[in-house]
Amino acid sequence: MRVMQQPHDLTVIGLGAMGTTIAKLYVQRGARVTLWNRSTAKTNELAAIGAHVAATIAAAIESSQITILCVANDVAARDILAAAGADRAIHGRTLIQLTTISPETARDEARWAHSHGASYLAGAIQAAPSQMGQADTPILVSGDPHTWERNRAVLELLGGGLVYLGDDPGGAAVMDLATLSWVYGAMLGFVHGATIAQAAHLDVARYGEIVRAISPSFGAFFQHEGRVIQSGDFAITESPLRISIDATARLLDSARATGLNIEFPAFVAGAFGRAARAGLGGEEVAALIKVMR
Ligand SMILES: NC(=O)c1ccc[n+]([C@@H]2O[C@H](COP(=O)([O-])OP(=O)(O)OC[C@H]3O[C@@H](n4cnc5c(N)ncnc54)[C@H](OP(=O)(O)O)[C@@H]3O)[C@@H](O)[C@H]2O)c1
Repeated sequence: MRVMQQPHDLTVIGLGAMGTTIAKLYVQRGARVTLWNRSTAKTNELAAIGAHVAATIAAAIESSQITILCVANDVAARDILAAAGADRAIHGRTLIQLTTISPETARDEARWAHSHGASYLAGAIQAAPSQMGQADTPILVSGDPHTWERNRAVLELLGGGLVYLGDDPGGAAVMDLATLSWVYGAMLGFVHGATIAQAAHLDVARYGEIVRAISPSFGAFFQHEGRVIQSGDFAITESPLRISIDATARLLDSARATGLNIEFPAFVAGAFGRAARAGLGGEEVAALIKVMR
């Protein structure tokens, strides 16, 4: 386990599943941790392993040089920062927002922090609580570059897979929306795939295992397609779009023939069909973006 090179005082506000994990990791790594949570009972477990419990939000912020906020959403984060004395307490300190928030909220909070003489970073955690603190745990981070450099080592204790996205405080939240889009697109596809397997009396747990096994190579494939889109050069390098036009038409035909719900395959085949009619079949599959912008 990585421990702190030098002792740190850290405040964690928000003790849901994620905030509790974060606070526990810092206690285990040798920090002096102060806590605040709306429901005070949730502080008991951490107090028992050495964390301090503050009576108010302002007192919690004042206790440490760095405050990490990890509450439910934008509204909860706004309630915390609007608490009595929080604006005075944050002066000269650093606020690290690890609540998943919108880009606009992150930019507003950065302005709020700076106007009260504080530094600000926003992070978007890309992992479940049980996956925190690993060498490759991914956390997207954005905000002032000097604040990032100063606080990088502290954040690395939560996850070795930090990705810094630049000085726009909203950058991490923007990229979080992009990765969420990928995850929920995959979720829809996964669930439709489960209906395909079930209709043929195949084991859906086995289907999940197969998806896990093929995911690393598909991850590498998406990495390649991201580079293609960024470059603007859609010459075929891996997979011609025409293959996916045929594959998605087959998915729709098969769902119809089997009597499955066709919402998902109709949407996907519709998008690839537009690409076919736009004459993109002879380009790399990522050229689909030309009809999705
Ligand atoms: N859990 C995950 O898998 C995961 C993964 C990645 C990112 N995240 C992000 O991490 C953040 C926290 O997630 P979580 O799983 O810890 O959520 P959670 O278990 O639902 O906990 C929510 C926390 O927010 C507090 N809260 C809610 N509304 C509040 C308000 N108006 N004022 C003050 N506190 C308020 C709750 O306080 P009470 O205890 O008093 O209710 C609790 O501490 C979210 O933004 C989530 O998107 C979570």
